Amino acid sequence: MSTPVLVTGAAGFIGSHTCQALISRGQSVVGVDNFDPFYDPWVKRRNLAELARATDGLVPPGGRAGTFELVEGDICDARGMADLVKRHRPSGVIHLAAKAGVRPSIADPAAYARANVVGTASVLEAARAGGCARVVVASSSSVYGNQAQAPFREEGEVDRPISPYAATKRAAELLAYAHWRLTSMPTACLRFFTVYGPRQRPDLAIQTFLLKAVRDEVIPVFGDGSTSRDYTYIDDIVAGVLAAYERIGAPGIAGDGYRVWNLGGHRPVRLSELLDAIARVVGRPVRTEPRPMQAGDVERTWADLTRSASELGYRPRVGFEEGLARQWSWLQDVGS
Ligand SMILES: NC(=O)c1ccc[n+]([C@@H]2O[C@H](COP(=O)([O-])OP(=O)(O)OC[C@H]3O[C@@H](n4cnc5c(N)ncnc54)[C@H](O)[C@@H]3O)[C@@H](O)[C@H]2O)c1
Repeated sequence: MSTPVLVTGAAGFIGSHTCQALISRGQSVVGVDNFDPFYDPWVKRRNLAELARATDGLVPPGGRAGTFELVEGDICDARGMADLVKRHRPSGVIHLAAKAGVRPSIADPAAYARANVVGTASVLEAARAGGCARVVVASSSSVYGNQAQAPFREEGEVDRPISPYAATKRAAELLAYAHWRLTSMPTACLRFFTVYGPRQRPDLAIQTFLLKAVRDEVIPVFGDGSTSRDYTYIDDIVAGVLAAYERIGAPGIAGDGYRVWNLGGHRPVRLSELLDAIARVVGRPVRTEPRPMQAGDVERTWADLTRSASELGYRPRVGFEEGLARQWSWLQDVGS
């Protein structure tokens, strides 16, 4: 059996797609997830069932089938993580587990700090003790806060987070930096810009809006519709994650083994544009209701992709409406 890669948060939206892509390439994967109840754990079981169906019997040409094993556990359990790494001897770690979501982090900052900061420290220490060769850590565009300068560049200001979630993601980046300084283990931090597509988290705008549109329910619109997001299709994110995992520490990559990369979409989409696109994809007008702007929400996100394009060959390929149509089609297939 090939040496596995350890993927944390394997049952989640991005985690299940990442595992699927690795297995499709013949790579064995050990996943860890605690089925955190932030959203219905049944949705995560469904993600894993879809992953199993998509990879069942897949053997890459000339290669061997990748295997998948899911370990149910909490990344904050430092001893449990160390044991898991010692048992499975993964070659590296793709650390995606986190409590995600800006607004709920304002209601429960301590739980976010535990999962995202204590959890990241525990994963990094297990990687060190287990002699892993590399680690990739999921960060977020939220670390940029409300920047005046856009598009956001990796070397820009990231010390003014406007939500506990953003602060925990920045803290995870700093822990990853210290880990690299102490171990020289190639370490990448990836700043994802709002990810969408099949299996999208049910708390995120597009999935919520599509579900409301199909039920002909009113969509609450926070702010005046002028906020914008650089939406990134899931397949593009996964391609960026795998490229970062392969390339970190390679000759020609700046940073001596520690690197931050933005992974974004093509262009920022205004909330009002998103609602128009949803009406087109669903095939009928949507009903909306204005609400005040929510605390913790940034005004816009927009990734500068110069660094990830030149160092990772990262190029987002799926256009916004194409991705939206694919998510809509998947939603109709799964039924909710
Ligand atoms: N989806 C996005 O738009 C987006 C944007 C920026 C950053 N991110 C980051 O990407 C990563 C994946 O996000 P996602 O959208 O797939 O979220 P998700 O909630 O679908 O997946 C995260 C997974 O981590 C698991 N998890 C949480 N706490 C855990 C713990 N203590 N121990 C073990 N497992 C735990 C959850 O059960 C879940 O399955 C996260 O680190 C998130 O912060 C996501």
